[in-house]
Amino acid sequence: MKNVLVLYYTQSGQLEDIAKNITHPLAENKDITLTFCEIKMKKAFPFPWDKESFFDAFPESFLEIPTEVISIDTAITEKKYDLIILAYQVWFLSISIPVNSFLKSYQAKSLFKDTPVITVIGCRNMWIGAQEKMKKHLLNLKANLVGNIVLFDRSPNLISVITIVKWMFSGEKKKYLGIFPKPGVSQKDIIHAQIFGFYIEQALLQESFETLQDHFIKEKAVEVDDYLLKAETKGARIFNKWARLIITKKRSRKLWLKAFNVYLFLAIWIISPIVYILHLLTFLFTKNARNKRKKYYQSV
Ligand SMILES: Cc1cc2nc3c(=O)[nH]c(=O)nc-3n(C[C@H](O)[C@H](O)[C@H](O)COP(=O)(O)O)c2cc1C
Repeated sequence: MKNVLVLYYTQSGQLEDIAKNITHPLAENKDITLTFCEIKMKKAFPFPWDKESFFDAFPESFLEIPTEVISIDTAITEKKYDLIILAYQVWFLSISIPVNSFLKSYQAKSLFKDTPVITVIGCRNMWIGAQEKMKKHLLNLKANLVGNIVLFDRSPNLISVITIVKWMFSGEKKKYLGIFPKPGVSQKDIIHAQIFGFYIEQALLQESFETLQDHFIKEKAVEVDDYLLKAETKGARIFNKWARLIITKKRSRKLWLKAFNVYLFLAIWIISPIVYILHLLTFLFTKNARNKRKKYYQSV
């Protein structure tokens, strides 16, 4: 009998849906016991979000400052797992606060030690920095990252900004004004995610995860867009400066978060199109570098 733990945090339920689809083949197998466990905060984040809470989550998300999570039932944490599937959202180019907080908790230490881990990301489209941070966490926890699956919003970057804002602030995953595409990960991609479960099932039963990520990549589990990667890398450098500045401000924090909101608006609507034009201008001359980056970020 193989034991698999699915750890996740979601607000809309999209990530739980993704995790359920991925693990569908495992759930059908009598020789596999699946345990789902949701990470919960002592003080829950709102959903739908209001503007103030949304930006207030920025410094702690980016700087990976933990907040208190509700301890997981010891009946779950005391068991040894053959595999942990960790499904997380990206917040401000970093791991969401709930998942980051859990990874820094005492419970994570024993749970993850010497255990194979597959990370599953459900995000808008910028996840590279978060996964780099995740790799470090898992290394510290002495876990063994064996696979990564990324599901994202396939709409053009700026369109997905408009639709996700509407979704996050209304709580409704529907077509804005009836003309914009539906926000988030498409239902087609969520259903297709079952394919990854077959490879996981195989690897689990054969007790070998060595080729799992190669299979995932063939099935397009991790698509690296070089323009988004560049925009994200540039954004993260500036986010770092903002987060370090804002965290030092106690009384004027709200004011600084408003200034960050203005910066983010300008970065999305002015800086990111410039990055896109530069990306197009240099596209033909950067094939080798692009391929190298793609290979690295697709790997575990
Ligand atoms: C505070 C906040 C910040 C976010 N920042 C990013 C981001 O930097 N990159 C990204 O791709 N998605 C970002 N998202 C989208 C989330 O990763 C995720 O797709 C969304 O919250 C829906 O998750 P859920 O359906 O599991 O609740 C952000 C969402 C929130 C709430």
